[in-house]
Amino acid sequence: MTSVSLPLAEIVEGTATRVMVGDHAVCLVRIDDDVYAIGDVCSHADVSLSDGEVYRDDLEIECPQHGSVFSLVDGTPGTLPATQPVPVFDVVVADGTVTVSSSIRSDQRLENDR
Ligand code: FES
Repeated sequence: MTSVSLPLAEIVEGTATRVMVGDHAVCLVRIDDDVYAIGDVCSHADVSLSDGEVYRDDLEIECPQHGSVFSLVDGTPGTLPATQPVPVFDVVVADGTVTVSSSIRSDQRLENDR
């Protein structure tokens, strides 16, 4: 498992930031002092979700290409054309530092195993 740490202050509140965690492109979104980490590549096509618009009240991000909206919480698309979720990565915020790991969150692994 690989992890990457960066200062919370480097992530602008209400926006998305793309980071590489090992081989994984991860879209980090900061809402207040919470950070969400989902796969950066849209499940519909090879487009970076970090370039999309963040809907902070709904905890969602919109793909800039065709407009599918993905949950920052569980990675599921709420609108077409995307139909498959993007992965959700383990992320911890502690003492002003954000640590993202390359492991996919355990509850999503269970979902994908069904
Ligand atoms: S590339 Fe993201 S919705 Fe089509």
